[in-house]
Amino acid sequence: MIIKSATFVKSSPAVAQCPNTNTPEYAFIGRSNVGKSSLINTLTGIKGLALTGSTPGKTLLINHFLVNGDWHIVDLPGYGFAQRGKKQREELRRMIEGYILGREQLTNLFLLIDSRLEPQQIDLEFIEWLGENGVPFSIVFTKADKLTKTALNTNIENYKARLKEDWEQLPPIFITSSQTRDGRDEILNYIEQINSSL
Ligand code: GTP
Ligand code: MG
Repeated sequence: MIIKSATFVKSSPAVAQCPNTNTPEYAFIGRSNVGKSSLINTLTGIKGLALTGSTPGKTLLINHFLVNGDWHIVDLPGYGFAQRGKKQREELRRMIEGYILGREQLTNLFLLIDSRLEPQQIDLEFIEWLGENGVPFSIVFTKADKLTKTALNTNIENYKARLKEDWEQLPPIFITSSQTRDGRDEILNYIEQINSSL
């Protein structure tokens, strides 16, 4: 897919305030600092479209971006940011869950996982929750540039093996780097394919 335009639409504190539209949405979720906003900038090719930062907790609202005039990318806050107080963590959890379960336009959720790490409990629990709620999702491994090819492959195979303990069939998996733009075309083509099937 060729990106002709991508513009910021709105930041919303809850699903009820999200834009009143009926175009497909692709949302990006994952642990704080995993690289959601960076990946969105890489996908759209617009640096600084989504706010990024080296400290976790950069994105704290539901952010809509209109792409090519006819579909949305949604940047969500990260989950599991330990440094926030319990109350704010709860608020963020409610915001994220409210969006994922309540937003009819949500077509596919991209769950981002840091390719450098062993499977983390918090991500495995989130995947389980998605499954229980029948949310269509794909897994995106991020920061692939930070590993050697061998270490990367080992980690991905290890992750797949862990998922196969609970899942008969694995979701689509993408391996990405916002630095080298690896995986960008694959994700955009996947979105294009879904859009054209709607
Ligand atoms: P929150 O909004 O806080 O939940 O974080 P986020 O998931 O949106 O992460 P963000 O995109 O802000 O990136 C966090 C940090 O990781 C930044 O310092 C990025 O530069 C860095 N980063 C993100 N993606 C990559 C990548 O593919 N490669 C490398 N080397 N660094 C990355
Ligand atoms: Mg962010």
